[in-house]
Amino acid sequence: MVCLGNICRSPLAEGILQHKAHENNLELTVDSAGTAAYHIDESPDYRSIQIARKHGINISKQKGRQFRIDDFDQFDKIFVMDHSNLTNVLSLTRNEKDKEKVSLILNQLNSGKDLEVPDPYYGGDNGFEEVYKMLSEASDNIIKDLMNGN
Ligand code: 4NP
Repeated sequence: MVCLGNICRSPLAEGILQHKAHENNLELTVDSAGTAAYHIDESPDYRSIQIARKHGINISKQKGRQFRIDDFDQFDKIFVMDHSNLTNVLSLTRNEKDKEKVSLILNQLNSGKDLEVPDPYYGGDNGFEEVYKMLSEASDNIIKDLMNGN
């Protein structure tokens, strides 16, 4: 799960997908990263921690890190939140195999629409609930796909 800062959207996405994997007895390695180095080793934004907690998910122990080329080797799927993340991650790909792993997470929900998870960092608390809802629905579809062998 990749966003810009790895403190708002992608930590939530990581927590949600991991939680749903557990609920479905699916063994998954889920992680998150930011394309920028602004928040390395920081905890998630308190608003992301709060919204996750409200839904029974603890993301408070996560620590920010930057996306690295090695992630293409460590993970089968790389979900990005917005077009800017997509451009940044694609610029690091080394080959077609790397490229095929990368997609906008909301295409799991609205295939081919290329919609973005809006950055809630500068907005109010409402933005976080909205982001939670989008990520939860997208994660449901990721789990369904994985259970169907995709
Ligand atoms: P995120 O949100 O990419 O969802 O973690 C942001 C967090 C911090 C900044 C930008 C976006 N920032 O500019 O510090």
